[in-house]
Amino acid sequence: MINVIGLGYIGLPTALMLAAHGEKVVGTDCKKAVVDTLTEGKTTFKEKGLDELFGDAKKHGIVFSTEYQVADIYIISVPTPYEKESRKVDPGFVVSAARSVMAVAPAGATVIVESTVSPGTMDEYVRPLLKEIKRTDIHLAHAPERIIPGNMLFELLHNNRTIGADDEETGERVKAIYATFCQGEIVVTDIKTAEMTKVVENTFRAVNIAFANELARICRQDHLDVYEIIRICNMHPRVNILQPGPGVGGHCIPVDPWFLVGAYPGWTGLIEEALTINDSQPGYILKRIHEIMDEKGFYDTSRVGIYGLTYKENVDDLRESPSLHLLKEQPDPVNGFKVYDPYILKDVADNQFHNLDEFLDAVDMVVIMVKHNEIKENADKLSGKIVLDCQNAVALPEAYHI
Ligand SMILES: NC(=O)c1ccc[n+]([C@@H]2O[C@H](COP(=O)([O-])OP(=O)(O)OC[C@H]3O[C@@H](n4cnc5c(N)ncnc54)[C@H](O)[C@@H]3O)[C@@H](O)[C@H]2O)c1
Repeated sequence: MINVIGLGYIGLPTALMLAAHGEKVVGTDCKKAVVDTLTEGKTTFKEKGLDELFGDAKKHGIVFSTEYQVADIYIISVPTPYEKESRKVDPGFVVSAARSVMAVAPAGATVIVESTVSPGTMDEYVRPLLKEIKRTDIHLAHAPERIIPGNMLFELLHNNRTIGADDEETGERVKAIYATFCQGEIVVTDIKTAEMTKVVENTFRAVNIAFANELARICRQDHLDVYEIIRICNMHPRVNILQPGPGVGGHCIPVDPWFLVGAYPGWTGLIEEALTINDSQPGYILKRIHEIMDEKGFYDTSRVGIYGLTYKENVDDLRESPSLHLLKEQPDPVNGFKVYDPYILKDVADNQFHNLDEFLDAVDMVVIMVKHNEIKENADKLSGKIVLDCQNAVALPEAYHI
């Protein structure tokens, strides 16, 4: 039996996928509300195909509980924020979940940590727990997750995976579990290498996004079209520049690279600089808004509309959202920007609308922060507005860009 611990964006789809592929699964979350909602037959967030997968998993007998189970395999997928001061990973959730499962784990059980951690975390924080309770009959593994919100279920099935384990036998046992659904290649390595690969992957993305953001700022100095420049450069056989944007959000790219900075002080100058550029991007967009307003002789900030609050398109995830950072930085919150996002049904900001047409009626300038399909499909409704398209989402010749 598999007990998946933490039923959020990663744990829930993983638990459902395993159950739908015939494994006996119990999903455990410490939040009773999460367990109650799932037990009532409702999913806790929106994701393409999740409801169908949920139905499948239910048919195969998945159950949800706040209790840690007696199981052969534990998959821990709890949050791993970073400590703002030290910039090191905060292993508190992982440690607490691991301690809870180790207290009930039978001899021979395997505890797999899926949460993203910095290199050395398993050795420094998880392995000592076994010593604490004097157990040598529990195996440890690290199987970092790479899936992206918006395409999670496809990626769960098709992405390659990395398994870190202490010995080949444990590695192969863990590999066999993921191979029940994963059609990608599954590489088995040691735990610290697996920890490092996941953080390095997200750091690669963060640094390359920062490069694209810096290019956008350079091109702006000479009114050059950064998108056209990137398009042409990418025709070079060995160049592949990412796209600039209003900043990076989510639970991975703005967070995980700091784990390296925290873990290897003095060795991460390039990475730190890149993270600083990405973090300052919402502030840069704010300057751009005011630059365009000045150019247009238009000064009423309450007639400026921020389109998109989530950190990426077509999902309802607000974590580390560049739009929320931008709203916090606006200089005149009394005459604050209007905001709207089709995926955010609750009020999370002042002056928030819940209908595209009403939002557009209330503003003269639209800042596209997120390229939801909705705005691409309704680009004609932007006619007559001043548009700052921070995502190159709509093909409007008169739109401003970052
Ligand atoms: N969200 C992503 O896109 C993504 C992608 C790849 C990797 N990751 C990594 O996966 C991990 C999980 O992220 P997430 O986005 O699923 O987080 P999340 O916040 O969506 O979900 C975590 C869940 O764990 C539960 N939880 C916390 N402590 C617990 C405990 N001791 N026992 C039982 N339940 C507990 C919480 O109640 C919550 O429901 C993180 O390390 C993250 O970095 C996330």
